[in-house]
Amino acid sequence: MIVHVFDTPAQVARAAAAVFSAQILKKPDSVLGLATGGTPVDTYKELIKLHQDGILDFSQVTTFNLDEYEGLPTSHPESYVAFMKRNLFDHVNIKQSRLPDGLNKDHQKECAAYDEEIRQAGGVDLQLLGIGNNGHIGFNEPSDHFVYDTNLVDLTPSTIKANRRFFDSEDQVPRKALSMGIGTIMEARSILMIALGEGKAEVVQKMVEGDIDPQVPASILRAHKDVTVLLDRAAASKLSL
Ligand code: GLP
Repeated sequence: MIVHVFDTPAQVARAAAAVFSAQILKKPDSVLGLATGGTPVDTYKELIKLHQDGILDFSQVTTFNLDEYEGLPTSHPESYVAFMKRNLFDHVNIKQSRLPDGLNKDHQKECAAYDEEIRQAGGVDLQLLGIGNNGHIGFNEPSDHFVYDTNLVDLTPSTIKANRRFFDSEDQVPRKALSMGIGTIMEARSILMIALGEGKAEVVQKMVEGDIDPQVPASILRAHKDVTVLLDRAAASKLSL
């Protein structure tokens, strides 16, 4: 795990966009794993700028997102489909993008199909991750074990509270989501994690310096051979580096 610390969130976003750019320039038909949440928004803005400036071409790129809420209409502005359209897909020329279908009532079938489609596409070349306050990646919540495949997840009260800011009230935050499993994420050839702000400092410290523990799902990333972590000073403030 390589950890880089930058002075500002803006620098983190530019560094993350640089990693994505290198990937796409090296392999124009890359398969990218994408993430939602507040953290990657500025990275997506940088990628859009690079596309608009004629530097990045996504025309052969395929993307798979980490997760999607269960049962939330795609027309809802906080569905992850809507988020991705607004923040990236509507502004670049990605060939094909896929998110788990949270409206498919046959969750098991949908999750199995999702993992199979990733395999058929050749696997994820570069997976972008944020980290939840409780250490989740995708929506893999703290647990006594790691779940391997894409699956239907019960969101924890702390995640529901954290995502409350995107909805009118806590009641409206979906209670379940379809998420790539830890195994799906770990199969990516390389992983780029970004974390910003003081609120993430404690969990970042646990991820980087604590034990590998399913109670801190992101700690499993230390067992992956190609993980780059980009932090701003605030998110890195509890590291003993
Ligand atoms: C959500 C997403 C995660 C994301 C996390 C952190 O729950 N499922 O993929 O990393 O929240 O979000 P934020 O970047 O807004 O802190």
